[in-house]
Amino acid sequence: MKKRERNKFAGTVGFVLAAAGSAVGLGNIWRFPYLAAKDGGGLFLVVYIILALTFGFTLLTSELAIGRKTKLSPLKAYGEMKSGWNFLGILSSAIPFIIFMYYCVIGGWVVKYALMYILGNGDLTTADGYFGGFITSTWQPILFTVIFMVCCIVIVYRGVNKGIEASSKIIMPALLILVIGIAIFCLTIKGTAPDGSVRTGLEGFGVLVIPDFTGLTVGRFVTVVVDAMGQLFYSISVAMGIMVAYGSYVKDDANLVKSINQIELCDTVVAFLAGVMIIPAVYVFMGREGLAASGPSLMFVTLPRVFEEMGFAGHIVGALFFAMVFFAALTSAVSLMEAFTAGVLDHCHKMSRKKATVLCGIVTIVGAIVVCLGYNIFYFEVSFATVKNGQILDFLDYISNSFAMPILAICTCVLIGWVVGPKAIVEEVEKSGAKFGRRGLYIVMVKYVSPILLTFLLLNSMGLISL
Ligand code: PHE
Repeated sequence: MKKRERNKFAGTVGFVLAAAGSAVGLGNIWRFPYLAAKDGGGLFLVVYIILALTFGFTLLTSELAIGRKTKLSPLKAYGEMKSGWNFLGILSSAIPFIIFMYYCVIGGWVVKYALMYILGNGDLTTADGYFGGFITSTWQPILFTVIFMVCCIVIVYRGVNKGIEASSKIIMPALLILVIGIAIFCLTIKGTAPDGSVRTGLEGFGVLVIPDFTGLTVGRFVTVVVDAMGQLFYSISVAMGIMVAYGSYVKDDANLVKSINQIELCDTVVAFLAGVMIIPAVYVFMGREGLAASGPSLMFVTLPRVFEEMGFAGHIVGALFFAMVFFAALTSAVSLMEAFTAGVLDHCHKMSRKKATVLCGIVTIVGAIVVCLGYNIFYFEVSFATVKNGQILDFLDYISNSFAMPILAICTCVLIGWVVGPKAIVEEVEKSGAKFGRRGLYIVMVKYVSPILLTFLLLNSMGLISL
């Protein structure tokens, strides 16, 4: 196959930061802390870390190695690994395309809240029904979504080096500083929960880290494992074409094993720090009941109330928090856009990156506007599988996350484990002279354990079995 001159990450640091930027996203912030509080604190953390070092490591290694070996976008890489497997390429390009259109809508909500806090109007967002009123209005969500998308498009337009790598090198350190700063502040707070009891941030920290075995049965433990697995799977940005695309820009002499460890470490540390900032803050002012919220209701309803309770400091913490979330969402959205734009570039050899980016940008902006209007003129409520009264956004989220992604990941394991053989990946990883310490583990995981775990995940998220 004819290949065009490919962009490359100039250095390993740039690559690791870009991949970590993709991995660190909304999931780390609005779902990880909630699951940790729900699933026994330290118990969840230990299960999560074990899974990250085995299951997560296997999926991440496979995708990055497929990308680097083929030097192709996800659209073409699977077919190059084995002819006849091109359908996986199509699936792995369709997934980021679909996710991008709704992820950017949420990115737009983040922009709106960040601006509200930065302009000192954060308190207004705590009025009853504010969030619902905002997302169901006609123009505002569209405007902010388009602003968020233009930021992504500009970065992808500038290319792998000048856009993705350069922006990650600025955004990721800034994000880390913000998360660490807010987390430390949240450990020092003290306040009164709705039941009148005085609580401290450190007690909230205990909820995150102390293993809670009360009421632990085999069934509960299975739930903890499945929750951790689903979270990890989403959090490391696999099965979205992203890591194949980013892998294809990695130089042949880079040490993949080291980079993978660093990406996972960064993702897990940020998720943990998000827990250190959110759990104490919510626990102090809202009590344990407050911790029952996750997703948009945590981010756009519960947390603004917590910031309000903090008084003056809340304005600053709120502004810094939403700026941090904006950074996290932006680097993830950029990686999604790169994943399908790279496919267009590989398919249309004559098209320039700039043209391809603008084209993809226009198509997805139209799609995202439809998603925004799903809360307005295209409003409908449907319930299916695990979704209750969903709108267009929930529908796209379900199709991609609960259905297409596990299927792509299972097929990738089958392709590598059984059709091509794990040797191809092992050789790719060891090519640079890297020591593949977990080679035996990788082979067992990719052939047997991962496809089985993923099948459970698929059936569970489709609501066909309940674990
Ligand atoms: N890893 C991201 C997160 O935790 C998930 C994601 C990545 C979503 C890229 C979309 C795009 O939020």
